[in-house]
Amino acid sequence: MEFFEAVQKRRSVRKYSDKPVPEQVMNKALDAALLAPNSSNAQTWQFHWVRTPALKKKMVDACLGQGAAATAQELLVVSIKPNLWKKTTQEILNSKQPEGLEKQMQQYYGKLIPFMYGMQILAPLKWIIFNGMGLFKATPRKPWSLRDRTETCVKSAALGCENFMLAIAAQGFDTCPMEGFDESRVKSILNLGWGDTVVMVISVGERVDRGVWGPRHRGPRDWFVFEV
Ligand SMILES: Cc1cc2nc3c(=O)[nH]c(=O)nc-3n(C[C@H](O)[C@H](O)[C@H](O)COP(=O)(O)O)c2cc1C
Repeated sequence: MEFFEAVQKRRSVRKYSDKPVPEQVMNKALDAALLAPNSSNAQTWQFHWVRTPALKKKMVDACLGQGAAATAQELLVVSIKPNLWKKTTQEILNSKQPEGLEKQMQQYYGKLIPFMYGMQILAPLKWIIFNGMGLFKATPRKPWSLRDRTETCVKSAALGCENFMLAIAAQGFDTCPMEGFDESRVKSILNLGWGDTVVMVISVGERVDRGVWGPRHRGPRDWFVFEV
């Protein structure tokens, strides 16, 4: 399916048919999710494909029983694990570096990223350093706190979600992104750590007639798009 066709076709579906979603459709979409751009390539995201029937049942309850979850053929939970940066940056440092950029890569992944993502105890000091330098020149001021770090990771994970949903649409199936869920319950069902955040639950299946609530609605373009 052509890209713009997939963008148009993707709608949030609240009721799915009984048609199973082939495993290769899910895997292709998961691979597309992992190709999403992400901050510093730190890949602090996790994609949990909930396949165990008992867990799926619990997930429907944690998603407040909404139709988009209850009738779904497949459920995907997207979460962030900020501390993954340690593993992913080490893997980047251990892999072959782009020619001529070896020193910059060492500096970036060996020093800057550990300072930005780690050393949370130094958060107030980071704030002073970034904002002090910012008085004199353009300076990246975030992430200095745990909250900033979460925000950075959530942005990247959300891009993974969109890649996943468009890849599902391109293969003729449907999705619904959900934030209507009980995060504590979802974390406990999936055994997620205290530092993890659940970004979205995405249901997958084939839409039935009236599975989409109505025609697509958006406000006027000039409320949201600016040429400056
Ligand atoms: C972060 C996020 C959370 C959402 N949560 C829910 C949800 O819990 N339940 C639901 O039915 N739809 C949910 N939606 C779907 C939106 O309602 C939907 O995207 C919006 O109404 C636009 O419709 P469209 O996706 O068909 O273009 C969510 C969408 C996003 C991006």
